[in-house]
Amino acid sequence: MLPYLIAPSILSADFARLGSDIDSVLAAGADVVHFDVMDNHYVPNLTIGPMVCKAIRNYGITAPIDVHLMVEPVDSLVPQFAEAGASIITFHPEASRHIDRTLQLIKSHGCQAGLVFNPATPLSYLDHVLDKLDVILLMSVNPGFGGQKFIPATLDKLAQVRQLIDDSGLPIRLEVDGGVTVDNIGDIAKAGADMFVAGSAIFSSDDYQQTISMMRQQLAA
Ligand code: DX5
Ligand code: ZN
Repeated sequence: MLPYLIAPSILSADFARLGSDIDSVLAAGADVVHFDVMDNHYVPNLTIGPMVCKAIRNYGITAPIDVHLMVEPVDSLVPQFAEAGASIITFHPEASRHIDRTLQLIKSHGCQAGLVFNPATPLSYLDHVLDKLDVILLMSVNPGFGGQKFIPATLDKLAQVRQLIDDSGLPIRLEVDGGVTVDNIGDIAKAGADMFVAGSAIFSSDDYQQTISMMRQQLAA
């Protein structure tokens, strides 16, 4: 197993003071910045793009930025996000006509690449691309909004993917996104995840440090 990573989703951050809010969450112990890109087409919501990613880098954020593309089509945004300082770029396979090509495109721009599975997206998309993946991201809510409830069926799906990764012997991260809280993060880790996105649970709490350290306690239990 790879070391656990906690990735606050800045979808729930204070956009009026984004740079300092990210500073605070990293100082509180977060490992990775999760950056949700929504296009009002693939998902019914509209968020932020490469300009904001670049602004965060220029502000001085050096932590890895995990760009979760909820967009269709995908490819035209890949070079822009790579240039803007993305570290990881993940996309939903059904939103790309040529999945293998998109994965190659991401890697050719020097970023880590991953596929994202909605709660009802079949895992068969993994069949011929496992060796090209750095990350597999399982959505535990339907994408588009923060603050939704964790869908419990994700736990079985996580266990299935954990087995697949272990059998492959490849160093692929297993990330989970949606409805992650202090109360369920322990069970999610037991099911096999090693990277945890949490938006509202962290940014809506009064004390980021306390919330993140409570999450780490659950992970250590
Ligand atoms: C949902 C986004 C998530 C979201 C998570 O489409 O991909 O990253 O911000 O937010 P919470 O943790 O509040 O469910
Ligand atoms: Zn996300």
